[in-house]
Amino acid sequence: MATYKQRRTQEMSKEHPASASAPAPATSSKFLLEPVSAYTTGSRFFLEPTKGSSRQHLSTLILMALGIAATLRLFFHQLHCDDSILLRNLASRSSEESCVLPPLPPIQTRQDIALVLEQMNFTTGIEIGVQQGLFAEYNLKFWPSCRKYKLVDLWKQQPNYFDSANLDNLVHETFYQATKERLKPWEGFTEYYRMYSSEAAKLIAKEGEQVDFVYVDARHDYCGCKEDIEMYWPLVKPGGILAGHDFMANYEVAPQDWSVCMDGSIHPEAVKGAVMEFANKHNLPVGVTYRETHWNSWWIRKPLC
Ligand SMILES: C[S@@+](CC[C@H](N)C(=O)[O-])C[C@H]1O[C@@H](n2cnc3c(N)ncnc32)[C@H](O)[C@@H]1O
Repeated sequence: MATYKQRRTQEMSKEHPASASAPAPATSSKFLLEPVSAYTTGSRFFLEPTKGSSRQHLSTLILMALGIAATLRLFFHQLHCDDSILLRNLASRSSEESCVLPPLPPIQTRQDIALVLEQMNFTTGIEIGVQQGLFAEYNLKFWPSCRKYKLVDLWKQQPNYFDSANLDNLVHETFYQATKERLKPWEGFTEYYRMYSSEAAKLIAKEGEQVDFVYVDARHDYCGCKEDIEMYWPLVKPGGILAGHDFMANYEVAPQDWSVCMDGSIHPEAVKGAVMEFANKHNLPVGVTYRETHWNSWWIRKPLC
């Protein structure tokens, strides 16, 4: 009984008599240097070496040489282009060198922020939106070099604000008292501003000192967040960090509704929109914590000039 290979050879010799006895192509290195002829049978495509003249050999070699030359040319052209981009970047960097800041270390969660502040020898900060003082306590514990931590919170219910932290006044009072108790160990370093964040910003500006770090976590609607970012940015020292909680748009925070601003206007982009608008306006990169389960923090570094 004929084997499969024998049957295929018979079939092929019927389809194309010349190919039946053709040597197995592509496996011999000789094949690569020899002129080839191609033909098709049905849906199949065959290549086979032809008994070529030395002229054919020569033309194959010339074609190969031309191919190699073209590849080399492309390679050196690429090198040249990369070089010129690098040189251009270096040139533009040298003119801005005094403003360029090294990147911050990677920040996985907002708990890393205090460690970074300590690592950078920063000493002063403001937290806008304090509630029970939980994040403030964490920061003060893990930022031992901190010498001044300003706490800004209204500790009062607000109209037209659909946020889970907008609780009734009784709860706010309890939170305020709890914060004072919790932060007693740092009494000498903390300053309280129980008022709207916009009023506190004006007061702090009058004090005439910038800080190394500001954390925005008060109103989460677009207008409120935008106002805090704009009013506190001038209070950050060059080289300092403006950061905040909840880098989110309204569709990510249901059942809260952060699309409504205090004046009743609708802006579904919420915190994310306010942060990105500011960053784009000033052409500054935004960092976002990359290993939170939710409620990511964001930050922008203030250039030196
Ligand atoms: C989400 S809580 C802050 C949580 C805190 N940062 C933490 O992580 O532990 C928001 C706080 O911001 C305060 N707040 C909201 N809008 C404010 C405003 N316009 N001015 C001052 N405080 C405000 C609220 O009273 C509330 O206590």
